[in-house]
Amino acid sequence: MSTPSPSSAADARRYYITTPIYYVNDRPHVGHAYSTVAVDVMHRFQELKGARVHFLTGTDEHGQKIERRAQEEGIDGQAFTDRMAPPFRQLFDTMNCGYDDFIRTTEPRHKRQVQALWKRLEESGDIYLGEYEGWYSVSSETFFTEKELLEGNLDPITRKPVERVREKSYFFKLSKYGPKLLEWFESHPDFVQPSTRFNEVKRFVEGGLHDLSISRTSFRWGIGVPNDPQHVVYVWLDALTNYLSALGLLETGPAGAPSGQTDLAHFWPTKGTLSTTRAVHVVGKDILRFHAVYWPAFLMAAGLQPPHQIWAHGWLTADGVKMSKSLKNFVSPLPLVDALGTDPLRYYLMRDVAFGQDGDFSHANLVARYTGDLGNGLGNLLNRVVQSILPKATEGRIPTPGPSTSLEDSLVTLAQRVSQDTATHYHAFAPHRALESIWELVSAANKYVDQTEPWALLKSDPNHRLPTVLYTVLESLRWLSVLLSPVLPSKCQDLRKQLGLPPLAVRQGLDLWPQAWGALIPGTMTQPGTPLFPRLPEAVQDQLLGAPIAAQAPPPPDNHTKKPQTHNSNGKPMIEFDDFTKVDLRLGKVLQAEAVPKSTKLLKLQVDIGEPQPRQILAGIRTTYAPEDLIGKKLVVVANLKPRKLMGLESQGMVLAASDDDGLSALFVDKDITPGVSVG
Ligand code: MSP
Repeated sequence: MSTPSPSSAADARRYYITTPIYYVNDRPHVGHAYSTVAVDVMHRFQELKGARVHFLTGTDEHGQKIERRAQEEGIDGQAFTDRMAPPFRQLFDTMNCGYDDFIRTTEPRHKRQVQALWKRLEESGDIYLGEYEGWYSVSSETFFTEKELLEGNLDPITRKPVERVREKSYFFKLSKYGPKLLEWFESHPDFVQPSTRFNEVKRFVEGGLHDLSISRTSFRWGIGVPNDPQHVVYVWLDALTNYLSALGLLETGPAGAPSGQTDLAHFWPTKGTLSTTRAVHVVGKDILRFHAVYWPAFLMAAGLQPPHQIWAHGWLTADGVKMSKSLKNFVSPLPLVDALGTDPLRYYLMRDVAFGQDGDFSHANLVARYTGDLGNGLGNLLNRVVQSILPKATEGRIPTPGPSTSLEDSLVTLAQRVSQDTATHYHAFAPHRALESIWELVSAANKYVDQTEPWALLKSDPNHRLPTVLYTVLESLRWLSVLLSPVLPSKCQDLRKQLGLPPLAVRQGLDLWPQAWGALIPGTMTQPGTPLFPRLPEAVQDQLLGAPIAAQAPPPPDNHTKKPQTHNSNGKPMIEFDDFTKVDLRLGKVLQAEAVPKSTKLLKLQVDIGEPQPRQILAGIRTTYAPEDLIGKKLVVVANLKPRKLMGLESQGMVLAASDDDGLSALFVDKDITPGVSVG
């Protein structure tokens, strides 16, 4: 039997892991959940291995983008950000992300640190006053050179227009740090992951660095530059400092000496603690340059150690384009959590997208992963044994295993390999690989149940072979409850409870990773509960499968090169007139309307579009219109859309409606025009 072993010295280290801090100009979406869940998975893995972990996330609340949004709302920046920040925190709570600290850049603790860092940069002689003239993108709060822009002076990432700026500005002597950065890259070959991204960073620095404008005078919503209140600190210098502020690193003491400060300050590496302290920033690939070039240069100038690693993950995309607040092509995570639960969404995000690469969000894959991997794979394995057989075989107690056969031996060997592979993959920030590997064990254990047929053994050999078979499956499930816990934390606690095991209790210096077979104690009472992943009701499936991504968006930019304009300002592809005439838009008159049972959104309409029989059309407008409001109304119908089924009912067309965050309005026609005439 195995007992948890004390972890190696390397694992007993401090581990500081951070997400980017998120702009609060809009509500959070599934892309934000993605970054924070990924960091949560790594944090939980490190804790299982016995590390002392500090996990930081938060919100980025200054800058021109936020100031403009606040002005649009007619409130000041503080009131605006106070309203916009909590949904991010709530989302991360809903996603069960166990962060240790949530920092807001409007907090006094952060402001003090930004000003302290500024003073250090000034003391090192790396700041001078000048004038900036060039392009600025408010949507990504970034200065761009002319050649980086897309056709029409658009930001290469957000595709929003950039602005010409000319103003007094303090500059940071970034150009001076080019050689030092290259030296750092050379001596820290894992500084940026994945390595292909590291190559891009190196090429960028090798191309020569310009000094960086680090203050703005044309707006006010930011942290004042010490001793020059006309200027506010550039929002990226402000934002990056959050990684130090949360540790209180610059609170006191001379440059480069975090000692004498809070215990948290020890989470930042110094030359003396390199082997026991790791600091990793996980970021989206869009903000790698800020983290891998500007940030280490600021830190070097301030006499501080750069972090160990910057891990740049890819984007969740919709039709190949980054989901973003500015393009409004994002999926909201909360309805997905309502439909499936938190852990299945975490699983989908970590499994379906190779970490480091882009991946298209797909409702169909989400449902397939839920039903297949989770329900039929893991859930079924537990169900087959704990629910179905154990109560009959042992009155629910863990049996004492007898001698093993080659079938058990090979399952144990496989479990041991899977455990090692999984740890390697988590370590390497490859949660998708870790899960792939874990599912080798899920499948092998299910296959073992098929081969050994415990339901037959219940009759033929209940006292000899059956206990061994049941114990083998239960012990596999115990291993799975640890291996999977970084991704499925609450389902794994449930799984453990059903196995009669206590929750996993992490402790610094204690390695809980499964190593030796046989820790389940015979005689322990199991507690069969509800299925881990119950079958999805058909209505929920239909709703998920019919869910649109909020808007169509343009194709990905082609490495920042200029291209002829192929999309309009709404991100829609430009089409030929012939393409437009293919759509048969017709005037329809609503003859009957009724609610679709079990659907909160759908109405079933019978619509006269000038054909012998009315068309049955399902329209997702129930939240705004009662059926009786619609009878006799004339609206615009797409009459040549292929029929499709929603909630088991055929929809033979589509009703046009406009919607925004606050509601929806169908496109009614206000004159008495004959049903069936073409609209165009
Ligand atoms: N505030 C800056 C970051 C400052 S860090 C010192 C910022 N904020 S952001 O809200 O625009 O985006 C932050 C991060 O959200 C991205 O780097 C990425 O980690 C995550 N994502 C936003 N959209 C995403 C996708 N569509 N897909 C994956 N991650 C996404 O940049």
